[in-house]
Amino acid sequence: MNEVAVVEMERQGNTKDLPSKSKSFNIYSTTTVLIFISLSLATLLIVFDFQALHTPVYSSSLKSWSVQKWETLCKTNYDSGNYSSKLNEMSSKLRDSVTFLPLKDWRFKPREGHTWFMSTIEDTIEDDEVEYLYFPSEASKGRILCLKARDRRDGGNNFYGLAWPESLPANATFMDGLTYVSDTYYDYNNLFHAVTAMLPFVGWYKRKGCEKPSRWVLFHWGELRTGMVTWLQKLMEATYEDEVKLESFERGNGLLCFEKAVVMRHNMGRMGQEKKREAYDLMRCKARAFCNVSQTEKVLNVNGKLTPVIRFTVLMRKGPRSFKNESIVIQTFQRECEKVEGCKLTAVHSEDLSFCDQVSLMSSTDIVASPHGAQLTNQVLMDRGSSVMEFFPRGWKELAGVGQHAHHWVASASGMRHEGGWWDQQGDNICPPQESHQCFKYFKGAQVGHNETYFAEWSRRVINQVKTDKLDQVIKSLATTESHINPNICSCG
Ligand SMILES: *[C@@H]1O[C@H](CO)[C@@H](O)[C@H](O)[C@H]1NC(C)=O
Ligand SMILES: *[C@@H]1O[C@H](CO)[C@@H](O)[C@H](O)[C@H]1NC(C)=O
Ligand SMILES: *[C@@H]1O[C@H](CO)[C@@H](O)[C@H](O)[C@H]1NC(C)=O
Ligand SMILES: *[C@@H]1O[C@H](CO)[C@@H](O)[C@H](O)[C@H]1NC(C)=O
Ligand SMILES: *[C@@H]1O[C@H](CO)[C@@H](O)[C@H](O)[C@H]1NC(C)=O
Repeated sequence: MNEVAVVEMERQGNTKDLPSKSKSFNIYSTTTVLIFISLSLATLLIVFDFQALHTPVYSSSLKSWSVQKWETLCKTNYDSGNYSSKLNEMSSKLRDSVTFLPLKDWRFKPREGHTWFMSTIEDTIEDDEVEYLYFPSEASKGRILCLKARDRRDGGNNFYGLAWPESLPANATFMDGLTYVSDTYYDYNNLFHAVTAMLPFVGWYKRKGCEKPSRWVLFHWGELRTGMVTWLQKLMEATYEDEVKLESFERGNGLLCFEKAVVMRHNMGRMGQEKKREAYDLMRCKARAFCNVSQTEKVLNVNGKLTPVIRFTVLMRKGPRSFKNESIVIQTFQRECEKVEGCKLTAVHSEDLSFCDQVSLMSSTDIVASPHGAQLTNQVLMDRGSSVMEFFPRGWKELAGVGQHAHHWVASASGMRHEGGWWDQQGDNICPPQESHQCFKYFKGAQVGHNETYFAEWSRRVINQVKTDKLDQVIKSLATTESHINPNICSCG
């Protein structure tokens, strides 16, 4: 500006004045111009420096609106010497800005494995491990998980949100410690499904330093569940050496914010085979310790000859899927067992046993023979590598779908050897012709018959295989002083 003005003055002088006068004017004018230029440069330098001090890194046009706003805010408050009112105001805005979304996202179709539960948040993925969410974390920017989730019928009426612990939403209750949050497509009353939902937590517990959960929050499709099948709850209490406290959201107005939370929503998801087995190892070992089960004799010394003990257990059930004639089934297995030195047969009804009775019995079982049913989940309490023989009523092979292989899957996940199944083909067709499209309901709870010839041959084969394997193990363990049992199996890490 100044320089332009100087040039303009010079031009005006040149045109108006005579040449004689113009020289003196020119001399005068040159001096004036020099003074003006020096002054202008100095001013520019000062202005530039001033700006450089204030915005050293980015130009003001790149500054976001909020940064400018904050600068103004800070400056104002610095001037007035009062931060606290503005801080409180901001904190209250943060408090009010927590957005709650429905736990069950209706935009997704309900199906297995889909993250329609808390659908806006991505899983953490680790090699060979189940996908999970953890709060607070870097991904959550330090925010913790808040749930308002009392509804037991519609997951769309339950809500989740993330909040900074310093500015929790109004009327929220802060919950200390670690919280387990589980969502399953299935349920917590069917033993197979419930174990599948809980196993990832045991795996996580083992590898994340064994911090005990202070509470458990269970959902099915985002609907709150406040119970789980007793056997599993006992197994969890044994594993964690602590009471399992299921959250019911009864306190306050039902809005709870959790200091630390881990969320599992894929059942076993990407969990690797060996990881599953390690989690089962831990549960088995803890259950045995909890129930004070002592190791039983694995090998007998008969006249100076080492003979493995083979413990054969017939685990029976009452009512649906019970054996039609228990005594004939037991006699058949008994006859085969008697033929092999070291074999001992036990036949019991699972309903008559307490949790610890079951742990104790299965700890000393090498072969379990049992009809398809929840009691067969007890197989995970046997030593790794033990055998499972399963029996199904008529109609199951054709009508029961893939679900009938559940115990096969459990055997594989827990390191047992599923020796196959026997499907009853005898008996009357109990399905009325007019209901042929839904026959399974007639067969579902039917009783299980028997085939003495088949049962005898099958059990003989299994007993002999177990005997050979155990003898190998005994020879191996004698050949080396090291125990083949991992001493750290019962500890974490
Ligand atoms: C700062 O603001 C708060 C809230 O408006 C007010 O209670 C307090 O007296 C103020 N303090 C000063 C030093 O002005
Ligand atoms: C918090 O609880 C109080 C008392 O129960 C209630 O009056 C108020 O509306 C609640 N505030 C919010 C934001 O829910
Ligand atoms: C196991 O033994 C301990 C110590 O002797 C005892 O306190 C506990 O009640 C026992 N547990 C069971 C299930 O018997
Ligand atoms: C079971 O089978 C045995 C031997 O065949 C027979 O004596 C007995 O009556 C049968 N029991 C029932 C309840 O059918
Ligand atoms: C019983 O099992 C044997 C041996 O597998 C088989 O040959 C026989 O056909 C079976 N009997 C019936 C009635 O299914």
